[in-house]
Amino acid sequence: MLILGIESSCDETAAAVVEDGRRIMSNVIASQQHLHRKYGGVVPEIACRAHVEAIVATLDEALAEADVTLDDLDAVAVANRPGLIGALLIGLTAAKSIAWARELPLAAVSHIHAHLYANILNEPGLPMPFVGLIASGGHTSIAICRSVMDMDIIGSTTDDAAGEAFDKVAKILELGYPGGPIIDRLARDGDPNAFNLPRTYLEPGSLDFSFSGIKTAVLYAWRGQPGRMRGTDGHKGAASPEAVPDMAASFQEAVVQVLVDKTLDAAGRHGVSHVAIGGGVACNSRLREVLTQKAKTENITVHVPPPALCTDNAAMVAGLAYHYVNSGLTAPLDVDAFSRL
Ligand code: KG4
Ligand code: ZN
Repeated sequence: MLILGIESSCDETAAAVVEDGRRIMSNVIASQQHLHRKYGGVVPEIACRAHVEAIVATLDEALAEADVTLDDLDAVAVANRPGLIGALLIGLTAAKSIAWARELPLAAVSHIHAHLYANILNEPGLPMPFVGLIASGGHTSIAICRSVMDMDIIGSTTDDAAGEAFDKVAKILELGYPGGPIIDRLARDGDPNAFNLPRTYLEPGSLDFSFSGIKTAVLYAWRGQPGRMRGTDGHKGAASPEAVPDMAASFQEAVVQVLVDKTLDAAGRHGVSHVAIGGGVACNSRLREVLTQKAKTENITVHVPPPALCTDNAAMVAGLAYHYVNSGLTAPLDVDAFSRL
């Protein structure tokens, strides 16, 4: 079964053709990062316009790369939740148009579920159940996946997403956008204990996250307390610019520790011995390192997809949709988009 998948939930316009939920025939991504760079974060209005401009060419490219035409498709799939509502609507409208014009079944899947499926796409024999940590610029969730179609979210962020915190801290440190890869690189030369930053665990046993506190802590540690801001009274209370690698390392260490602790706690409490990761933050080298090390001491195996399957892509959407269509879970042409799950 050949499925065309479409992904447009944030700042990547993506299309892919996947056969039988396994074989990736094409996986095309048109990134808009350059458009959002000067704002230090994704600007929803700009994202929507860029999706409109890129969607047709991206679809054409995905079909051409797979060496198929619309006539060869068996279904169309799209991620219709969660994400920026205007951005989701562009992909959803494209998917509906093709489904209607070609009388193809339409599958509307969850973007988070698709991130989890990226692990199965990468490793078809991935043992189940597994616990998945999905951390990106738009979401931070812990999920338990008992079978391909049986997934429950058991923890989520109560405020900022982990990647959003990386991006905002990079903005405070004036490093550029997206902040995650830059902080990852700079942190290698920094001391993770140089700055004492908070680790927010919320109430005991909670699998939810909160990353807004650490962002404020970085701001104050960097620029000084309010009223003593850099430049207003001879830099009193502000960190020196040479401390960028130390701040990057200290911030990254704090975020990674919370992500790892909660993920392994979830696995332990659910008696699960396999953990998988996804989302842009799953590319973080320190997260991969600490998670793998700590998991080993608890006899838990960590499964790590390649970066191209961690960040937003449409292969994960087309792959998961195969199981939706096989289970008869197709969507009507008036299916909506949802900013939250
Ligand atoms: O999954 P993704 O491509 O798009 C969203 O759905 O947001 O994730 C992008 C996010 C950005 O916030 C970016 O800073 C972060 O993932 N990111 C990283 C790394 N690479 C990307 N964060 C930490 N370390 C990285 N190496
Ligand atoms: Zn994502």
